[in-house]
Amino acid sequence: MPRIPLIKPDLPQLEEVADSFREVLSSGKITNFGKYVSAFEKEAGEYLGAETVTTSSGTMALLLTLQALGLKQGEKVILPSFTFMATGQAILYAGGVPVFAECENDLTLSPADLEQLLAKHDNVGAVIPVHTYGLPARTAEIETIVDAAGRKRGRKIPVMYDAAHAFGSSAAGRRVGTFGDAEVFSLSVTKMLVSVEGGMLASRNPETIALVKKMRGYGIEANYNAQWPGLNGKMSEFHAIIGLHNLRRLGELMADRQKKARRYLDLVKARTAFDTFPWPQGVEHTFKDFTVLVPPGTAETRDAVMASLLEQGVETRAYFHPPVHQQGWFARFADRPLPRTEDLASRVITLPFYTSITEQEMEHVANALASAQKHFHAGASR
Ligand SMILES: Cc1ncc(COP(=O)(O)O)c(C=O)c1O
Repeated sequence: MPRIPLIKPDLPQLEEVADSFREVLSSGKITNFGKYVSAFEKEAGEYLGAETVTTSSGTMALLLTLQALGLKQGEKVILPSFTFMATGQAILYAGGVPVFAECENDLTLSPADLEQLLAKHDNVGAVIPVHTYGLPARTAEIETIVDAAGRKRGRKIPVMYDAAHAFGSSAAGRRVGTFGDAEVFSLSVTKMLVSVEGGMLASRNPETIALVKKMRGYGIEANYNAQWPGLNGKMSEFHAIIGLHNLRRLGELMADRQKKARRYLDLVKARTAFDTFPWPQGVEHTFKDFTVLVPPGTAETRDAVMASLLEQGVETRAYFHPPVHQQGWFARFADRPLPRTEDLASRVITLPFYTSITEQEMEHVANALASAQKHFHAGASR
Protein backbone atom coordinates (compact mmCIF):
# COMPACT_ATOMS: atom_id res chain seq x y z
CA MET A 1 0.00 0.00 0.00
CA PRO A 2 1.38 3.47 -0.89
CA ARG A 3 2.16 5.82 1.99
CA ILE A 4 -0.96 7.16 3.71
CA PRO A 5 -0.61 10.94 4.12
CA LEU A 6 -1.73 12.80 7.21
CA ILE A 7 -4.25 14.84 5.22
CA LYS A 8 -5.69 15.23 1.75
CA PRO A 9 -7.54 18.53 1.48
CA ASP A 10 -11.01 18.60 -0.06
CA LEU A 11 -10.39 20.62 -3.20
CA PRO A 12 -12.53 21.34 -6.26
CA GLN A 13 -11.68 19.95 -9.67
CA LEU A 14 -10.34 22.64 -11.99
CA GLU A 15 -13.45 22.47 -14.21
CA GLU A 16 -15.66 23.21 -11.22
CA VAL A 17 -14.07 26.60 -10.58
CA ALA A 18 -12.62 27.48 -13.99
CA ASP A 19 -15.52 29.70 -15.05
CA SER A 20 -15.35 31.73 -11.84
CA PHE A 21 -11.58 32.09 -12.10
CA ARG A 22 -11.91 33.19 -15.73
CA GLU A 23 -14.60 35.71 -14.82
CA VAL A 24 -12.51 37.23 -12.02
CA LEU A 25 -9.35 37.39 -14.13
CA SER A 26 -11.06 38.99 -17.09
CA SER A 27 -12.91 41.56 -14.96
CA GLY A 28 -9.72 42.45 -13.09
CA LYS A 29 -11.70 42.50 -9.81
CA ILE A 30 -9.36 40.11 -8.08
CA THR A 31 -9.55 41.51 -4.56
CA ASN A 32 -11.04 44.27 -2.37
CA PHE A 33 -14.33 42.69 -1.37
CA GLY A 34 -15.69 41.60 -4.72
CA LYS A 35 -18.55 39.35 -5.64
CA TYR A 36 -17.07 36.09 -4.37
CA VAL A 37 -15.88 37.36 -0.99
CA SER A 38 -19.33 38.87 -0.46
CA ALA A 39 -21.08 35.66 -1.49
CA PHE A 40 -18.79 33.55 0.70
CA GLU A 41 -19.45 35.73 3.75
CA LYS A 42 -23.18 35.74 3.12
CA GLU A 43 -23.52 31.99 2.61
CA ALA A 44 -21.18 31.14 5.50
CA GLY A 45 -23.31 33.41 7.70
CA GLU A 46 -26.48 31.63 6.61
CA TYR A 47 -24.89 28.25 7.28
CA LEU A 48 -23.70 29.25 10.76
CA GLY A 49 -26.54 31.49 11.89
CA ALA A 50 -24.22 34.43 12.57
CA GLU A 51 -22.62 37.27 10.64
CA THR A 52 -19.17 36.69 9.22
CA VAL A 53 -16.07 38.55 8.03
CA THR A 54 -13.41 36.83 5.95
CA THR A 55 -9.71 37.50 6.53
CA SER A 56 -6.39 36.46 5.05
CA SER A 57 -5.79 33.84 7.76
CA GLY A 58 -7.16 32.50 11.02
CA THR A 59 -4.29 34.11 12.93
CA MET A 60 -5.19 37.50 11.43
CA ALA A 61 -8.85 37.04 12.43
CA LEU A 62 -7.82 36.12 15.99
CA LEU A 63 -5.62 39.19 16.30
CA LEU A 64 -8.10 41.67 14.82
CA THR A 65 -11.05 40.26 16.73
CA LEU A 66 -9.24 40.36 20.06
CA GLN A 67 -8.59 44.05 19.50
CA ALA A 68 -12.13 44.66 18.26
CA LEU A 69 -13.43 43.11 21.49
CA GLY A 70 -11.59 45.85 23.36
CA LEU A 71 -8.42 44.14 24.57
CA LYS A 72 -6.07 46.74 26.04
CA GLN A 73 -2.30 46.74 26.04
CA GLY A 74 -0.96 44.57 28.88
CA GLU A 75 -4.27 42.88 29.73
CA LYS A 76 -4.22 39.16 30.36
CA VAL A 77 -5.85 36.65 28.07
CA ILE A 78 -6.60 33.13 29.31
CA LEU A 79 -6.13 30.30 26.80
CA PRO A 80 -5.56 26.56 27.06
CA SER A 81 -1.92 25.63 26.63
CA PHE A 82 -3.00 22.65 24.57
CA THR A 83 -3.46 24.47 21.27
CA PHE A 84 -1.55 25.53 18.18
CA MET A 85 0.85 28.37 18.95
CA ALA A 86 -1.08 30.74 16.68
CA THR A 87 -3.60 31.27 19.51
CA GLY A 88 -0.77 32.55 21.72
CA GLN A 89 0.92 34.54 18.94
CA ALA A 90 -2.31 36.42 18.20
CA ILE A 91 -2.59 37.39 21.89
CA LEU A 92 0.94 38.80 21.88
CA TYR A 93 0.42 40.74 18.63
CA ALA A 94 -2.84 42.15 19.99
CA GLY A 95 -0.90 43.48 23.00
CA GLY A 96 -2.15 40.92 25.53
CA VAL A 97 -0.31 38.70 27.98
CA PRO A 98 -1.07 34.99 27.72
CA VAL A 99 -2.15 33.08 30.84
CA PHE A 100 -2.07 29.35 30.25
CA ALA A 101 -4.86 27.12 31.52
CA GLU A 102 -5.20 23.36 31.97
CA CYS A 103 -7.33 21.20 29.73
CA GLU A 104 -9.83 18.45 30.46
CA ASN A 105 -9.28 14.86 29.37
CA ASP A 106 -10.87 15.72 26.02
CA LEU A 107 -8.19 18.43 25.47
CA THR A 108 -10.59 21.39 25.69
CA LEU A 109 -10.26 24.18 28.28
CA SER A 110 -10.84 23.13 31.90
CA PRO A 111 -13.69 25.23 33.37
CA ALA A 112 -12.42 24.56 36.92
CA ASP A 113 -8.94 25.87 36.10
CA LEU A 114 -10.44 28.82 34.24
CA GLU A 115 -12.44 29.71 37.35
CA GLN A 116 -9.30 29.63 39.50
CA LEU A 117 -7.35 31.75 37.04
CA LEU A 118 -10.13 34.34 36.92
CA ALA A 119 -10.09 34.47 40.73
CA LYS A 120 -6.30 34.91 40.75
CA HIS A 121 -5.80 37.43 37.91
CA ASP A 122 -7.63 40.71 38.12
CA ASN A 123 -6.88 42.31 34.76
CA VAL A 124 -8.20 39.65 32.40
CA GLY A 125 -9.23 41.23 29.08
CA ALA A 126 -10.50 38.12 27.28
CA VAL A 127 -10.79 34.34 27.41
CA ILE A 128 -10.04 32.16 24.38
CA PRO A 129 -11.27 28.58 24.65
CA VAL A 130 -10.32 26.31 21.74
CA HIS A 131 -12.58 23.74 20.05
CA THR A 132 -9.71 21.29 19.91
CA TYR A 133 -9.61 19.16 16.73
CA GLY A 134 -13.23 20.32 16.15
CA LEU A 135 -14.71 19.10 19.44
CA PRO A 136 -16.78 21.96 20.87
CA ALA A 137 -15.40 23.27 24.17
CA ARG A 138 -17.62 23.28 27.28
CA THR A 139 -19.32 26.48 26.12
CA ALA A 140 -22.16 26.74 28.66
CA GLU A 141 -19.95 26.15 31.71
CA ILE A 142 -17.24 28.44 30.43
CA GLU A 143 -19.58 31.31 29.62
CA THR A 144 -21.33 31.02 33.01
CA ILE A 145 -17.97 31.23 34.79
CA VAL A 146 -16.70 34.14 32.70
CA ASP A 147 -19.98 36.08 33.03
CA ALA A 148 -19.88 35.66 36.83
CA ALA A 149 -16.27 36.89 36.95
CA GLY A 150 -17.24 39.86 34.77
CA ARG A 151 -20.19 40.75 37.04
CA LYS A 152 -17.87 40.73 40.07
CA ARG A 153 -15.59 43.18 38.32
CA GLY A 154 -18.44 45.30 37.03
CA ARG A 155 -17.27 44.88 33.42
CA LYS A 156 -17.81 42.28 30.75
CA ILE A 157 -15.01 39.85 29.94
CA PRO A 158 -15.37 38.78 26.31
CA VAL A 159 -15.18 35.12 25.30
CA MET A 160 -13.67 34.59 21.87
CA TYR A 161 -13.47 30.98 20.76
CA ASP A 162 -10.57 29.80 18.67
CA ALA A 163 -12.71 27.72 16.33
CA ALA A 164 -9.86 27.24 13.84
CA HIS A 165 -10.60 23.50 13.67
CA ALA A 166 -14.33 23.61 13.90
CA PHE A 167 -16.14 25.01 10.85
CA GLY A 168 -18.91 22.42 10.49
CA SER A 169 -18.99 21.28 14.13
CA SER A 170 -22.08 21.61 16.28
CA ALA A 171 -23.31 20.58 19.72
CA ALA A 172 -26.96 19.70 20.40
CA GLY A 173 -27.89 21.19 17.03
CA ARG A 174 -26.20 24.54 17.69
CA ARG A 175 -23.40 25.35 15.31
CA VAL A 176 -19.95 26.41 16.34
CA GLY A 177 -19.82 30.01 15.16
CA THR A 178 -22.74 31.10 17.33
CA PHE A 179 -21.13 30.82 20.79
CA GLY A 180 -19.58 33.53 22.95
CA ASP A 181 -18.87 37.05 21.74
CA ALA A 182 -17.04 35.87 18.66
CA GLU A 183 -15.67 32.71 17.07
CA VAL A 184 -12.71 32.58 14.74
CA PHE A 185 -12.17 29.96 12.05
CA SER A 186 -9.12 29.04 10.02
CA LEU A 187 -9.73 28.03 6.42
CA SER A 188 -6.20 26.82 5.75
CA VAL A 189 -5.32 23.62 3.97
CA THR A 190 -5.59 21.22 6.93
CA LYS A 191 -9.09 22.36 7.85
CA MET A 192 -12.56 20.98 7.16
CA LEU A 193 -13.53 24.09 5.16
CA VAL A 194 -10.59 25.09 2.98
CA SER A 195 -10.08 28.37 1.10
CA VAL A 196 -6.36 27.60 0.50
CA GLU A 197 -5.38 30.20 3.11
CA GLY A 198 -7.94 32.22 4.98
CA GLY A 199 -9.79 32.93 8.15
CA MET A 200 -13.23 34.01 9.24
CA LEU A 201 -14.78 35.75 12.19
CA ALA A 202 -18.35 34.81 13.09
CA SER A 203 -20.32 36.80 15.60
CA ARG A 204 -23.87 37.73 16.43
CA ASN A 205 -22.73 41.18 17.48
CA PRO A 206 -22.99 43.56 14.48
CA GLU A 207 -20.59 46.04 16.10
CA THR A 208 -17.78 43.47 16.31
CA ILE A 209 -18.44 42.49 12.70
CA ALA A 210 -18.43 46.10 11.48
CA LEU A 211 -15.23 46.92 13.33
CA VAL A 212 -13.28 43.90 12.07
CA LYS A 213 -14.44 44.73 8.53
CA LYS A 214 -12.65 48.07 8.89
CA MET A 215 -9.64 46.66 10.70
CA ARG A 216 -8.91 44.10 7.98
CA GLY A 217 -8.79 47.02 5.50
CA TYR A 218 -6.09 49.16 7.15
CA GLY A 219 -8.56 50.71 9.59
CA ILE A 220 -10.10 52.85 6.84
CA GLU A 221 -13.52 54.30 7.61
CA ALA A 222 -14.01 55.91 4.18
CA ASN A 223 -12.02 57.88 1.60
CA TYR A 224 -8.60 56.64 2.66
CA ASN A 225 -9.16 58.02 6.11
CA ALA A 226 -8.03 55.60 8.82
CA GLN A 227 -10.17 55.95 11.93
CA TRP A 228 -9.30 52.58 13.45
CA PRO A 229 -6.32 50.33 14.02
CA GLY A 230 -5.88 48.09 11.04
CA LEU A 231 -3.76 45.88 8.85
CA ASN A 232 -4.12 44.24 5.48
CA GLY A 233 -6.18 41.19 6.43
CA LYS A 234 -8.20 40.86 3.23
CA MET A 235 -9.18 37.66 1.45
CA SER A 236 -8.78 37.59 -2.33
CA GLU A 237 -11.51 36.60 -4.77
CA PHE A 238 -9.57 33.45 -5.75
CA HIS A 239 -9.50 32.23 -2.17
CA ALA A 240 -13.19 33.01 -1.80
CA ILE A 241 -14.04 30.98 -4.92
CA ILE A 242 -12.41 27.89 -3.40
CA GLY A 243 -13.98 28.53 0.00
CA LEU A 244 -17.44 29.05 -1.47
CA HIS A 245 -17.22 25.88 -3.54
CA ASN A 246 -16.27 23.87 -0.48
CA LEU A 247 -18.91 25.52 1.71
CA ARG A 248 -21.64 24.51 -0.72
CA ARG A 249 -20.76 20.83 -0.30
CA LEU A 250 -19.83 20.98 3.37
CA GLY A 251 -22.98 19.19 4.59
CA GLU A 252 -22.21 16.23 2.36
CA LEU A 253 -18.53 16.16 3.36
CA MET A 254 -19.38 16.39 7.06
CA ALA A 255 -21.90 13.54 6.86
CA ASP A 256 -19.30 11.35 5.17
CA ARG A 257 -16.71 12.31 7.75
CA GLN A 258 -18.96 11.41 10.70
CA LYS A 259 -19.42 7.88 9.31
CA LYS A 260 -15.72 7.44 8.63
CA ALA A 261 -14.64 8.78 12.00
CA ARG A 262 -17.07 6.40 13.75
CA ARG A 263 -15.68 3.44 11.80
CA TYR A 264 -12.07 4.53 12.44
CA LEU A 265 -12.71 4.85 16.18
CA ASP A 266 -14.31 1.40 16.25
CA LEU A 267 -11.35 -0.11 14.39
CA VAL A 268 -8.77 1.50 16.68
CA LYS A 269 -10.69 0.44 19.79
CA ALA A 270 -11.22 -3.12 18.58
CA ARG A 271 -7.71 -3.80 17.33
CA THR A 272 -5.35 -1.75 19.48
CA ALA A 273 -4.46 -0.71 23.02
CA PHE A 274 -4.31 3.01 22.11
CA ASP A 275 -6.60 5.35 24.01
CA THR A 276 -9.11 7.44 22.09
CA PHE A 277 -10.98 10.64 22.98
CA PRO A 278 -14.66 10.83 23.89
CA TRP A 279 -17.17 11.80 21.21
CA PRO A 280 -20.21 13.03 23.11
CA GLN A 281 -23.78 12.34 21.96
CA GLY A 282 -25.24 15.12 19.84
CA VAL A 283 -21.86 16.45 18.71
CA GLU A 284 -21.04 16.82 15.01
CA HIS A 285 -17.29 16.84 14.88
CA THR A 286 -14.96 17.90 12.07
CA PHE A 287 -12.13 15.65 13.29
CA LYS A 288 -9.73 18.19 11.85
CA ASP A 289 -7.22 15.94 13.60
CA PHE A 290 -7.89 12.31 14.44
CA THR A 291 -5.67 11.79 17.43
CA VAL A 292 -5.05 8.80 19.69
CA LEU A 293 -2.94 8.42 22.82
CA VAL A 294 -0.28 5.94 23.83
CA PRO A 295 -1.45 4.53 27.20
CA PRO A 296 -0.68 6.32 30.48
CA GLY A 297 2.90 5.75 31.59
CA THR A 298 4.23 4.99 28.09
CA ALA A 299 4.89 8.51 26.79
CA GLU A 300 8.56 7.72 26.26
CA THR A 301 7.59 5.16 23.60
CA ARG A 302 5.63 7.67 21.52
CA ASP A 303 8.48 8.54 19.14
CA ALA A 304 9.33 4.88 18.53
CA VAL A 305 5.66 4.18 17.84
CA MET A 306 5.54 7.06 15.33
CA ALA A 307 8.74 5.81 13.64
CA SER A 308 7.25 2.32 13.38
CA LEU A 309 4.07 3.75 11.85
CA LEU A 310 6.11 5.65 9.28
CA GLU A 311 7.99 2.45 8.38
CA GLN A 312 4.59 0.91 7.75
CA GLY A 313 3.66 3.78 5.44
CA VAL A 314 1.56 5.76 7.92
CA GLU A 315 2.33 9.47 8.28
CA THR A 316 1.65 10.93 11.71
CA ARG A 317 2.24 14.08 13.77
CA ALA A 318 2.13 14.86 17.47
CA TYR A 319 -0.55 17.62 17.48
CA PHE A 320 0.10 19.57 19.70
CA HIS A 321 3.42 18.82 21.34
CA PRO A 322 5.10 20.63 23.00
CA PRO A 323 2.21 22.48 24.63
CA VAL A 324 2.46 26.24 24.10
CA HIS A 325 3.58 27.09 27.67
CA GLN A 326 6.67 24.91 27.10
CA GLN A 327 7.64 26.50 23.76
CA GLY A 328 10.66 28.80 23.64
CA TRP A 329 8.75 31.97 22.81
CA PHE A 330 6.10 31.43 25.45
CA ALA A 331 7.84 29.78 28.42
CA ARG A 332 8.40 33.21 30.02
CA PHE A 333 4.62 33.48 30.55
CA ALA A 334 4.33 30.09 32.27
CA ASP A 335 4.43 30.36 36.03
CA ARG A 336 3.28 26.85 36.97
CA PRO A 337 3.30 23.33 35.60
CA LEU A 338 0.19 22.05 33.81
CA PRO A 339 0.40 18.33 34.56
CA ARG A 340 -2.60 17.09 32.58
CA THR A 341 -1.72 19.16 29.52
CA GLU A 342 1.91 18.03 29.70
CA ASP A 343 0.94 14.37 30.12
CA LEU A 344 -1.61 14.32 27.28
CA ALA A 345 0.64 16.32 24.93
CA SER A 346 3.45 13.82 25.50
CA ARG A 347 1.14 10.94 24.49
CA VAL A 348 -0.70 12.24 21.41
CA ILE A 349 -0.33 10.72 17.98
CA THR A 350 -2.33 12.30 15.16
CA LEU A 351 -3.25 9.74 12.52
CA PRO A 352 -4.05 10.21 8.84
CA PHE A 353 -7.62 11.38 8.40
CA TYR A 354 -9.43 13.10 5.55
CA THR A 355 -12.88 12.97 4.01
CA SER A 356 -11.74 10.71 1.16
CA ILE A 357 -9.93 8.17 3.39
CA THR A 358 -10.83 4.61 2.35
CA GLU A 359 -11.82 1.56 4.39
CA GLN A 360 -8.55 -0.12 3.36
CA GLU A 361 -6.52 2.86 4.50
CA MET A 362 -8.25 2.94 7.90
CA GLU A 363 -7.74 -0.80 8.28
CA HIS A 364 -4.10 -0.43 7.35
CA VAL A 365 -3.60 2.28 9.97
CA ALA A 366 -5.37 0.23 12.67
CA ASN A 367 -3.21 -2.80 11.86
CA ALA A 368 -0.06 -0.67 11.82
CA LEU A 369 -0.99 0.68 15.28
CA ALA A 370 -1.52 -2.88 16.53
CA SER A 371 1.95 -3.78 15.32
CA ALA A 372 3.60 -0.59 16.65
CA GLN A 373 2.19 -1.06 20.13
CA LYS A 374 4.87 -3.66 20.85
CA HIS A 375 6.93 -0.61 21.86
CA PHE A 376 4.66 0.02 24.87
CA HIS A 377 6.11 -3.06 26.58
CA ALA A 378 9.68 -2.33 25.55
CA GLY A 379 9.22 1.15 27.08
CA ALA A 380 7.56 -0.15 30.25
CA SER A 381 10.39 -2.60 31.02
CA ARG A 382 13.09 0.05 30.78
C1 LIG B 1 -5.96 26.20 17.06
C2 LIG B 1 -5.51 27.05 15.92
N1 LIG B 1 -5.63 28.38 15.99
C3 LIG B 1 -5.25 29.18 15.00
C4 LIG B 1 -4.69 28.69 13.85
C5 LIG B 1 -4.19 29.64 12.80
O1 LIG B 1 -4.89 29.59 11.61
P1 LIG B 1 -4.18 30.08 10.25
O2 LIG B 1 -3.17 29.04 9.90
O3 LIG B 1 -5.31 30.13 9.28
O4 LIG B 1 -3.58 31.41 10.53
C6 LIG B 1 -4.53 27.31 13.70
C7 LIG B 1 -3.94 26.77 12.45
O5 LIG B 1 -3.83 25.63 12.23
C8 LIG B 1 -4.94 26.47 14.77
O6 LIG B 1 -4.75 25.14 14.70
